Amino acid sequence: MRKNIVAGNWKMNKTLQEGVALAQELNAALVADKPVCDVVICTPFIHLASVTPIVDSAVIGVGAENCADKVSGAYTGEVSAAMVASTGAQYVILGHSERRAYYGETVEILTEKVNLALANELTPIFCIGEVLAEREANQQNEVVAAQLASVFHLSAEEFGKVVLAYEPVWAIGTGKTATSAQAQEIHAFIRSLIAEKYGKEVADNTSILYGGSCNPTNAKELFSNPDVDGGLIGGASLKVADFKAIIDAFKA
Ligand code: PGA
Repeated sequence: MRKNIVAGNWKMNKTLQEGVALAQELNAALVADKPVCDVVICTPFIHLASVTPIVDSAVIGVGAENCADKVSGAYTGEVSAAMVASTGAQYVILGHSERRAYYGETVEILTEKVNLALANELTPIFCIGEVLAEREANQQNEVVAAQLASVFHLSAEEFGKVVLAYEPVWAIGTGKTATSAQAQEIHAFIRSLIAEKYGKEVADNTSILYGGSCNPTNAKELFSNPDVDGGLIGGASLKVADFKAIIDAFKA
């Protein structure tokens, strides 16, 4: 059965102290008023070891925003999937458009990262999505299909451990959201690609999150689509009231 998930992506925000305070506040709010979906917070690497012990793992999962494409060794400044897992984190965002655009992450690099995440029992939250020019040229389907190559080498069993996040790059941090119909259309297309590759059962069990200017006002409508299983939330995950309101969009 596929899960509904709301995942926060803190990006490069919050000092350690601020991040710990945010995690504590969110934890208190969700312990007091339990969510009906899975909740994950993806934080900068340095926060992970401090955040995992202070959140109730029954209510909040913790993840990194990236990991290295190498196992270990002389890669100054990199953080491996094993290191992420050793903090108690259970998830890792991979293939975020900011990593693809600013740090040159290719399909091949991301394939390595996905493999290492799974080898270390981390759940990849694998991001795909087109830029504005591609959407305007109606190429979004080809773009996401090509990006899926980083996870389509997996066995069906391995693929079953992956969460997908469709994030149109033109909607990230811009305040411009995909319409509910645009989200549903491409999510259904992505699910059809999974069905073609792995069969209907695997496709039906895959959680596909929407990301890009998701907020308390639009979350309920976006999440009401049959193929939208939650959200990957940037800006609005930095304020407990907003993030909780998005989480509560799954409540009646
Ligand atoms: P946003 O970011 O919610 O601030 O648009 C989403 C993301 O990049 O994951």
